[in-house]
Amino acid sequence: MARAFRTAGVVGLGTMGAGIAEVFARAGLEVTGVEVDPGALERGRGHLTRSLDRAVGRGRLTEAGRAEIMGRITFTDSLAALAGADVVVEAIPEVMDYKRALFADLDRVCRPDAVLATNTSSLPVTAIAATTSRPGRVVGMHFFNPAPVMRLVEVVHTMVAEDGLAAEVAELARLLGKTPVTVGDRAGFVVNRLLLAYLNHAATLLEQGVAAVGDIDAAMRDGAGLPMGPFALMDLIGLDVVYEVCEVLFQETRDRRHAPAPILREMVTAGLLGRKSGRGFHAYGGAAPAAGV
Ligand code: 3HC
Repeated sequence: MARAFRTAGVVGLGTMGAGIAEVFARAGLEVTGVEVDPGALERGRGHLTRSLDRAVGRGRLTEAGRAEIMGRITFTDSLAALAGADVVVEAIPEVMDYKRALFADLDRVCRPDAVLATNTSSLPVTAIAATTSRPGRVVGMHFFNPAPVMRLVEVVHTMVAEDGLAAEVAELARLLGKTPVTVGDRAGFVVNRLLLAYLNHAATLLEQGVAAVGDIDAAMRDGAGLPMGPFALMDLIGLDVVYEVCEVLFQETRDRRHAPAPILREMVTAGLLGRKSGRGFHAYGGAAPAAGV
């Protein structure tokens, strides 16, 4: 019989981690959010507060509801606080060495039967699982940005996972109000494998002078029925993440559709990361857009 999930840990409270913590707390689980230092912890709390404020502002959540959700979340800089968690989701930067070190620590701290999940976008879950003494309880739970809104969770199943783990985690995703799909441990899984080739291609069209940023965005929004155009979406995801995921996909597949367009590297080097830095292909909060795009 599938276990009950009552307590969750989220490690890394950037845009994705904070959104994932919100999703768990909204579903009624007690959540422990962990960040490395007090500054990062405060930024994580800020992401969460702003997201809930927006929901209150739109009349989707009452003040009491917000207080209840925040009351279910504990913020800490100590991994030891995850000792009793039923499930832990890692949402730290996409650097394999960081992930492997964290999972080795989680393996020491967490209960042997806890599910250890990674929100990695593109790194091999099997290699992360191999750093633990319980690869059978390690899984990918890939959420999409913005996590409180997007319905999909890709449940990444490795060949060393326990029988029934993918079904157990899919059930957890349903408890969170999400739609799970089970995918194999191949770079980019399903969504990023397809989506990033499209986004990268949009950057190439821009470099080739086919059309301007605003016109390509309008074309895909109004001509293909997408909620936002490719440049608005890259700004939402973060150009650093887009670049890194393309790079990993290219290394693994050698498919040139994933070879990052030079403009992506240039913009990341310049610190033009999209919404989170105030400037990317578009400008946010009164900043000027990037010159020459
Ligand atoms: N946090 C919480 N809620 C948010 C939010 C955020 N960051 N952004 C928007 N919302 C909520 C709003 O509050 C609103 O909710 P309501 O209807 O209950 O009031 C709802 O989402 C719609 O928001 P808006 O009216 O402000 O704006 P839009 O209608 O334009 O929707 C959007 C915004 C949901 C971001 C929509 O444009 C969209 O779906 N865009 C595509 C996003 C996408 O493709 N994401 C996947 C990226 S790939 C990825 O994440 C994988 C990674 O590995 C790279």
